[in-house]
Amino acid sequence: MEFITPIIVLSSISLFLGVLLVLADKFFADYGECRLIIAGEKELTVRGGETILSYLTVNNFNIPSSCGGKATCGYCKIKVLNGAGPILPTERPFLTRDEKDAGIRLACQLKVKNDMEIFMPDFLETVKNIVKNRLYDPKLRWRFNISNQIYSKHDDKNIKKQDDTDDKAKIYGIIENYKSMAGALVPVLQNINSAFNYLPEHGLGYISEELNIPLSQVYRVATFYNAFSFKPKGKNIIKVCLGTSCYVKGGKKIMETLEKELSIKVGESTGDLKYSLETVNCIGCCGQSPVITINEDIYGYLKHTMINDILKKY
Ligand code: FES
Ligand code: FES
Repeated sequence: MEFITPIIVLSSISLFLGVLLVLADKFFADYGECRLIIAGEKELTVRGGETILSYLTVNNFNIPSSCGGKATCGYCKIKVLNGAGPILPTERPFLTRDEKDAGIRLACQLKVKNDMEIFMPDFLETVKNIVKNRLYDPKLRWRFNISNQIYSKHDDKNIKKQDDTDDKAKIYGIIENYKSMAGALVPVLQNINSAFNYLPEHGLGYISEELNIPLSQVYRVATFYNAFSFKPKGKNIIKVCLGTSCYVKGGKKIMETLEKELSIKVGESTGDLKYSLETVNCIGCCGQSPVITINEDIYGYLKHTMINDILKKY
């Protein structure tokens, strides 16, 4: 117990210092006058310390933003030619591999602390231009890869593959099969989900890199469909129907029996990952209620006393 007190003291001191540093940066850091050069457009002289987005906005350069600079929309992308520091953790989810290589950054996150040169494509200036040039895809948000002038070629993708594990190789194998196909994201997620019986979260990063899709978009799709799960699932998925017809004919009792037999609750998997237990609202076999499914098999007219024998088959 005596080692806990110094740990608490040290953590409190680090927290206090951290807060002090943030406050000092906010109120006392003086970055002096900085030049914000908008390539081919204008040169602004600004008092450093604020985000690029705020300087552009007060100078009537319209950068799209729907989250008010909270780094949740990913709209405010610009290309920084000179003077940017490392990519911030808040920017990463919104940038594709090519965008990172090309110096694309979120204007609402990057602060001007020294002279900076940025590039704002004409088409970002008005929505009219964006629509006219067909550069806006409401589903994919900003598609910088349409404009050759923005990208540099990414030519070093073998580096990250040096420390491949088995899982990684399997995931890369699946991605490779669909890479050249338009709309590859969903089939890649489906295949990884069925290969592992869930979506390993680190796999989403590989998908983002290889398909050149922002991680935020991969997450959006992966969390949209119920078919995908971030938790490892059992080899056999048992679904107990709790729709009205099944419920009134004893579906709840069936569910409780399964929970007892498997020693898990609904939504959980057994320790050996042999079974996962889920509920469903009507599978269209109300005439045979109460009903459960195990993988592709349907069991109707069930009685709780039949559960044990059914489980033995799996
Ligand atoms: S304004 Fe939304 S991410 Fe920057
Ligand atoms: S309510 Fe269970 S199958 Fe319809």
